[in-house]
Amino acid sequence: MPMAQKLQRIVVADQAALATTAAERLLARIGTNAWRIAICLTGGSSPKQLYQLLASDAYAKQIPWDRVHWFIGDERFVPASDPLNNMAMARKIFLDRFAPKDRIHPIPTDVADPDESAQAYERELKSFYGADDLDPVRPLFDLVLMGVGPDGHTASLFPDYPALAETKHWVAGVPQAHVEPFVPRVTLTLPALASCREMLFEVAGQEKRAILDKLSKDESLPANRARSLGETVFLVDQAAAGG
Ligand code: 6PG
Repeated sequence: MPMAQKLQRIVVADQAALATTAAERLLARIGTNAWRIAICLTGGSSPKQLYQLLASDAYAKQIPWDRVHWFIGDERFVPASDPLNNMAMARKIFLDRFAPKDRIHPIPTDVADPDESAQAYERELKSFYGADDLDPVRPLFDLVLMGVGPDGHTASLFPDYPALAETKHWVAGVPQAHVEPFVPRVTLTLPALASCREMLFEVAGQEKRAILDKLSKDESLPANRARSLGETVFLVDQAAAGG
């Protein structure tokens, strides 16, 4: 049976509460699946505290590291050793300390260009999923983490960019970014991101207030078009929520 779609906003006090709530949701999500688990991480600054928490004793010991596969929703097309690389950030903060190497699935950036990288990652995702077509009753990911950029982008799906309209491919190359850092990107597409039990946006800080306000009025922005086939949660701190 297809999952029921649900959208909710949860407002918490501050960034620390946001990280704790996200970590608890991640553990709860893991707890609903006794088999292989797929988590799609995100880049940017918002998830850093969550990643630090996952590296702490209290959380790390609760994660069945052998069963969890870690993917990334978008990547800056820079070498894996570059501090701008999204997966490198997650690896440095927690993955390399706990996750077996073959459970970490970075988007390759040591290939000719973002399109080649997108094709390679799409092949990897399809091989992990075991099919070329996404079945709504069998989501690709248990959990997809997301952030929201100042222009309403999410992953590397920027407003009015062709990747946003992609319906067939799971991953797309983005030759130029709309915001800093201005490096080419590789991004999962809306259908691939939607194929999850839960999509969890983390939105923190006063500088996010304007875009949150805009999102409540402009349905066409990418962060409004990225929705799970199951549950979508906007986890927002007071500073971003305002009011
Ligand atoms: C990236 C991201 C991007 C990010 C948003 C929010 O590569 O930059 O994946 O989509 O999530 O831009 O970024 P902050 O968390 O830094 O505000």
